[in-house]
Amino acid sequence: MSEPAIEVYENEQRKFVPSAAFAAQANTSDRSLYDEAEADYEAFWARQARELLSWDADFETTLNWKLPFAHWFVGGKLNVSYNCLDRHVEAGRGDKVAYHWEGEPGDKVTLTYSELLTEVKKFANVLKSLGLQKGDRVAIYMPMILELPIAMLACTRIGVAHSVIFGGFSADAIVDRCNDAETKLIITADAGFRKGSAALLKPTVDAALDIGAPSVEKVIVANRCDTNPEMVEGRDLWWHDLMADASPDCPAEPMDSEQLLYLLYTSGTTAKPKGIMHTTGGYLTQVAFSHKYIFDLKPETDVYWCAADIGWVTGHSYIVYGPLTNGCTSVMYEGTPDTPNKDRFWEIIERYGVTQLYTAPTAIRMFMKWGTEEPARHDLTSLRVLGTVGEPINPEAWMWYHDNIGGGERPIVDTWWQTETGGHMIAPMPGVTETKPGSACGAIPGVFVDLVDDGGNVVTEGGGYLTISRPWPSMLRGIWGDEERYRETYWSTYEGRYFAGDGAKLDADGYLWLLGRVDDVMNVSGHRISTTEVESALVGHPAVAEAAVVGGNDDLTGQAIIGYVILRGTHEASQELGDEIRAHVGDKLGKIARPKTVVIVPDLPKTRSGKIMRRLLRDVADGRSLGDTTTLADPAVVQEIADRASAGEDD
Ligand code: WTA
Repeated sequence: MSEPAIEVYENEQRKFVPSAAFAAQANTSDRSLYDEAEADYEAFWARQARELLSWDADFETTLNWKLPFAHWFVGGKLNVSYNCLDRHVEAGRGDKVAYHWEGEPGDKVTLTYSELLTEVKKFANVLKSLGLQKGDRVAIYMPMILELPIAMLACTRIGVAHSVIFGGFSADAIVDRCNDAETKLIITADAGFRKGSAALLKPTVDAALDIGAPSVEKVIVANRCDTNPEMVEGRDLWWHDLMADASPDCPAEPMDSEQLLYLLYTSGTTAKPKGIMHTTGGYLTQVAFSHKYIFDLKPETDVYWCAADIGWVTGHSYIVYGPLTNGCTSVMYEGTPDTPNKDRFWEIIERYGVTQLYTAPTAIRMFMKWGTEEPARHDLTSLRVLGTVGEPINPEAWMWYHDNIGGGERPIVDTWWQTETGGHMIAPMPGVTETKPGSACGAIPGVFVDLVDDGGNVVTEGGGYLTISRPWPSMLRGIWGDEERYRETYWSTYEGRYFAGDGAKLDADGYLWLLGRVDDVMNVSGHRISTTEVESALVGHPAVAEAAVVGGNDDLTGQAIIGYVILRGTHEASQELGDEIRAHVGDKLGKIARPKTVVIVPDLPKTRSGKIMRRLLRDVADGRSLGDTTTLADPAVVQEIADRASAGEDD
């Protein structure tokens, strides 16, 4: 295991106390939830489950735990779409806005809870009419349009599990995911607007089906950009045609608490992404709880905005399931923050009176680069709580967010969690916790985090590996089709503990400082990318004999992908070839996994046992300006690699 890539901010002493005014109105302003959970965490979660959700049948057993397999709220029955929609409509809140949706070109749609419910029922009937049944899986590959949450919720209404594939992924990525989960259907759109033009999706689905995903019988296509895609007779169906004939009557089917809700594929340390499994009752409990308390949500008055993409877990939990379960009004935005102008976010916040903004440190660093004039031109006083997620936030970015977006007084909640954890795990409570810029503070109530050393001993101050010592309701239930890999990956490194793959440090006040991944997973702009996955894409290029990939430090994106490659026999190193190799990775995995730099080297530094010395490569990447595209190994770099390798540095 290698050292974490990010240094801790040793000298960060500033502390920010929640204001008396904020604490006075907060959903919680003392330690009572922590104390309650500490005393009996099962009873604590059982209370949350019963208070936050509507059950068709109450559960008999709160937790059935046979390490590493958890069953939460056993015997309970509930339906996710009922919890997200019907119950709010039944309570007379049908006219409340569920989503203020805004497209990148500026088109706007307001969808109320009752309108959303009707769409969901109709689409659930469409799914049924295509023969889909409880337990089936469908893939969803869509831009940030309202059809995306509609499709997800329709699945949950009838017990079909969705597997959302981020719209930036490639045809190969679609093939792998569809084949692994044997999905019967792909729901997509012709395209989505991105940076001012239509980014095509349907042709990528066609390419995937040409490569081969034999389980896929049908493709449903929503028309977003009028790009007039080719429709394959008998296979491809228009969303609007199907919906025109669909009935708006569709009862919500009560599901077992442990019914599979969705799969979400994420990168690990191997070349094959893992299908993370989330189930119904526990997942919904924890996302509703955390959404309510970590964002201090007031469903009656707040306008909440999570600016992530639903293709990632943040969007699943905090654009769709948490906010809708809590019955709040959300903003959903299709496009990028700089289109058409660099004040797009601030304009949206002003227009809708956004009260919570949840975004990633990479975005904040980009806003910093664009300057304070952009937010200063807008009235941001509606904001009450600011959130961040996805990667460690450096104190400078935290302070900038605090001063320029939060008016120097709004609480910031830095939330640490993972695809696997389903919901927040480490975060401050905005009305309770004194925050330190750059620290995610501590575990939320009902979650138990320990740092351990190499030997698995608990560390009470200083650096260690982040582990979770007790099950939590929204924990992954496994890896689709690979029980053993689940045990291996998460539960075998430290006896009886979930190992997150992150390094962290505990300071003398007991604050946690997340340091980044300690395994071979990179974090680029808050997106998880496996070094192994990129390496195998690199060696898939005919000119590449061998490749090593590391995450170098990057001021904007946190880490950047740096690939070192050795060429095969007769191939000559050139700028063009390097660029071609980068493009090849983009085609294979999707643009987000395209290396920022490819360094063509004559050799790679290895230990005597033949292991690539990644730390050395990372140091080289960090110590040099390697350029943004291709860098031919300059002799000095090679010399440095050689010198240091011979000096016996090990990984
Ligand atoms: C990293 C995203 C520091 C971490 C929700 C984790 C963070 C990985 C934070 C999960 C944070 C996420 N501070 N690091 N607040 N949030 N991470 O599965 O390395 O896409 O293991 O889930 O992102 O990424 P994932």
